[in-house]
Amino acid sequence: MKALVLAGGTGSRLRPFTHTRAKQLLPIANQPVVHYALRAIADAGIVDVGVVVGGHADDIRRAVGDGSAFGLRVTYLHQPEPLGLAHAVLIARDFLQDDDFLLYLGDNYLEGGVTEFVRRSRAGRDAARLLLTAVPDPTAFGVAEVDGDGLVRRLEEKPEQPRSDLAMIGVYAFTPAVHEAVRAIAPSGRGELELTHAVQWLIDRGLGVRAETTTMPWRDTGSVDDLLEANRHVLDRLEGRVDGKVDAHSVLVGRVSIAEGAVVKGSRIVGPAVIGPGAVISNSSVGPYTAIGEDCRIEDSAISFSVLLRGARVEGAPCIEQSLIGREAVVAAAPRPPQAHRLVLGDHSKVQLTS
Ligand code: TTP
Repeated sequence: MKALVLAGGTGSRLRPFTHTRAKQLLPIANQPVVHYALRAIADAGIVDVGVVVGGHADDIRRAVGDGSAFGLRVTYLHQPEPLGLAHAVLIARDFLQDDDFLLYLGDNYLEGGVTEFVRRSRAGRDAARLLLTAVPDPTAFGVAEVDGDGLVRRLEEKPEQPRSDLAMIGVYAFTPAVHEAVRAIAPSGRGELELTHAVQWLIDRGLGVRAETTTMPWRDTGSVDDLLEANRHVLDRLEGRVDGKVDAHSVLVGRVSIAEGAVVKGSRIVGPAVIGPGAVISNSSVGPYTAIGEDCRIEDSAISFSVLLRGARVEGAPCIEQSLIGREAVVAAAPRPPQAHRLVLGDHSKVQLTS
C-alpha cells in the first residue's frame, strides 16, 4: 500500500499566512502540521509516499526532504493548479500505479494515528473506505449517509439539511477503482474535481464504499481557530521537560517544555506550553496552551492560548490571547499619548485618577 499526502491547495482561509508559506507547515505544538500526518503514515507501516505540492513546493520539500527522517520514501508530485482533491489523485496516477493507497489531507490532524484504519483497509479491500466523525454542525462538512451494514449510501458536500451528523475526515483508503472515478467526473460549480463526487461515482456503480467512525480528536487546520484548537489538543498531551535556561526569578507551573537554547528570565510559564529553541522570554507571563516558536522574543508581555511562529517578537503587550502570530512579526506597545486631566474642583473635593 502507498500513501498520497495532499500538500498543495490555495489555503485562502488562512491568508495572510498562506501568502508566504504552505499551510501544511504551520505549527501545532512547534511541529509542522504535515509532520503529524507523515509520522502516522510511517507508524501504519507504509513506506512509499507521494506528496502533492503546488505553489509552496520548495517550502514543503525543505520541511519533508526525502522522507528518511520519518522512515519514508517520498516522491514529490507537482500539481500545476489547485484543481481539487480528485484532481490531485488524477495527477498521481503514474506514482500510484495499481496499488491500493491511503489518501491523507496534509492539513488534517488526527489523534491516535491511522494504523488500525490501514490494517482494516488492507483486510477489507472495499473500493473506498472513509473515516467519519460525529460533528455538532454537519452543514460545514462533507457528510456521509451510512446504512446498517456500514456501507456509505450517499455523500453531500456542506448540506443545508444534513441526513446525518457524520463528517468526512481527511483520511481515506482507496483501491485502484478510484482512478476511473476521478477521470469520469466533471468539475463542480467551483471549478474543482471534487473527491466526494468521485466517491459518489463509486457508490452509484455499486462498488463498496465502507465507513468507519472514530471518536478520536480530529481537526482540519484550514482556519486560524481550528489550528489553535489542534494546538490545544496536542499540548494537552505534552510532557514537561526543561532543556533551556530558567533563572531563579521565574516560575514554571504544570507541564512546560523548554527547548535547549531557550532562555526564561523573571517570567511565569503556565503549562501546557512549549518554548522553542533560541526563544527568549523575559519579565512576561506565557501560557496556558501556548506554543512559542524558535527564536521568538517575548518581553514585558502576557500571552495565552496562542501560537507564535519562528522569530516573532512581542514587547510590552499586557494581554494577548487566542492569537496566531507570523514569522518575524512584531507586536509592540504604542507609545502612550501624553495624558492630562483638566479639573475644575470645588473646595474639599476628592478625586481618584486611575492613571
Ligand atoms: P482544502 O482545505 O480543501 O483546500 P485549500 O487548501 O485550497 O484551502 P481553502 O479552502 O482555505 O482555500 O484542501 C485540503 C488539503 O488538500 C490541503 O492540505 C490542501 C490540499 N489540496 C491539494 O493538494 N490540491 C488541491 O487542488 C486542493 C483543493 C487541496
